[in-house]
Amino acid sequence: MSRIGIIVGSLSSASLNRKVANALEAFAPEGVELVEISYADLPVYTPDADADYPQVAKDWKAAIEGVDGVIIVTPEYLRSIPGALKNALDWASRPWGTNSFNGKPVAIAGTSPGAIGTAAAQQHLRTIMGHLNAPTLGQPEVFLQFHADAWDAEGTLVDEQVAALLQVFLAAAVAHVDRYAAVPA
Ligand code: FNR
Repeated sequence: MSRIGIIVGSLSSASLNRKVANALEAFAPEGVELVEISYADLPVYTPDADADYPQVAKDWKAAIEGVDGVIIVTPEYLRSIPGALKNALDWASRPWGTNSFNGKPVAIAGTSPGAIGTAAAQQHLRTIMGHLNAPTLGQPEVFLQFHADAWDAEGTLVDEQVAALLQVFLAAAVAHVDRYAAVPA
C-alpha cells in the first residue's frame, strides 16, 4: 500500500486544477491511496518564524514527510507557479536542514485554459523541486489545455482522451514513487 499526497496549486473555490486532482483521485489503482495535503491556512513565510515554527507549518511539513510521494497539480500564474504554492514550498524547506521534500519523489501536472497548459509554470516548479532534492517524474508531461466540455456539470471528467492521459500519468507517478521507496534520502 502506498500513500501519495496531492497538492493543488490553487486556492480558488472553482479551481480547474482541483477538478484534475479529483479525477486523479478517482483513478487511484488498488493499493494506492491519494490524500490531499492542504496548505490553505499557512501564513506568509518569514525567516522570523524559524525559531518557533507555527503549528500549521509543522503540520504541513509532517503531512509531506508522512507520504511516500507527492503529485502537484498546479495552475500557471504569470508564467510561473502561484505565490501561495511557492509560499507553501518555502515553509516546507525550512527551518534550514529540515527540508521536508528531501528525497521525496514528485510528479507534476497542471491545466489552464491557455494553449501551453501550464508548461512554463511546470518548468519553474521543476527547478524548485530540484533544489529541494525531490526527484521529479520526467514523462509523461501533462500540459492540459482546459476545455469545459471535457467535464460534466458535477465536475466529473467525461472526455475519454483526457481520462486516458491522466491514467497514464498516474500509473507513471505511482511507478516513480515505488522506484524511490527503497532509496535513502
Ligand atoms: C492566470 N492565468 C494564467 N494562465 C496561463 O495559462 N498562464 C499564465 O501565466 C496565467 N497567469 C495568471 C495569473 C493570475 C494572477 C491568474 C488569477 C490567472 C489564468 C489561469 O490559467 C486560470 O485562472 C485558471 O483557471 C487557474 O487555475 P485554477 O485556479 O482554476 O485551478
